[in-house]
Amino acid sequence: MSASPIGVFDSGVGGLSILHSIRQLLPHEHLIYVADSAHAPYGPKGDNFIVQRSLHIMEYLKARQVKAVVVACNTATAAAIAVLRERYQLPLIGVEPAIKPAAEQSRSAVVGVLATSGTIASDKFISLQNRFSEHVQIITRAGTGLVELIEQPQLDEATLLALLESFIRPMHDKGADTLVLGCTHYSLIRSQIAKVAGPRMHIVDAGTAVAKELQRRLVASGLDNLLASTAPVQFLSSGDLKVQQQLLARYWPEPAAEVTALA
Ligand code: DGL
Repeated sequence: MSASPIGVFDSGVGGLSILHSIRQLLPHEHLIYVADSAHAPYGPKGDNFIVQRSLHIMEYLKARQVKAVVVACNTATAAAIAVLRERYQLPLIGVEPAIKPAAEQSRSAVVGVLATSGTIASDKFISLQNRFSEHVQIITRAGTGLVELIEQPQLDEATLLALLESFIRPMHDKGADTLVLGCTHYSLIRSQIAKVAGPRMHIVDAGTAVAKELQRRLVASGLDNLLASTAPVQFLSSGDLKVQQQLLARYWPEPAAEVTALA
């Protein structure tokens, strides 16, 4: 058993959707969330940049004595998790688009995947897609512009809905009945996505699966915290702290804690 914290990081606020699933399943674990908002979006940045940022955040988290790290970002998982696994011995859990459950659920055998351009172009994603493309048609679409809108201090609903419509309508037209949210930011706007997708399109993300995998890995390594009391959640960001505080109030359901600076 270990009361040490668990690190969770993303390019910005997107990973809060994963953090929420972890919090629900493991409320007694101390969590440290790092939003690299000064460098969001990661999607178009390229692997080298994302690897460097991920290493920087890992070093910070290691100095905080974390016992495990969740890469709460599909783009960073695709670009950097292999490098991180070579360097760090602690349990490292990544996230990838939930194509498997989507393929199992789809009745029309047509699945839409909305993710960043970086995720869609990655080898990791292409091999995931190839594993299922014999059984289902997979329509991918880069959600270009969505992360920037989600990170804005004021959410521009009209622009957001118009952008979503332009991404989701072609999937509808091709018969998709299931939509995979392949970027953790998109789960934060699930209600707007559901509004555009309509009641017949099933929406799938990976939050619960990641939380369960974290739990499994902690238990397997004897690192789970067996204390019954609720543990703290700490928030750090490389971005403008005032904006981060506003975003936390919008996307984090618990009373907002103070956001501190990531050097
Ligand atoms: N939230 C991230 C993901 O799951 C990254 C979005 C971005 O920074 O482009 O891919």
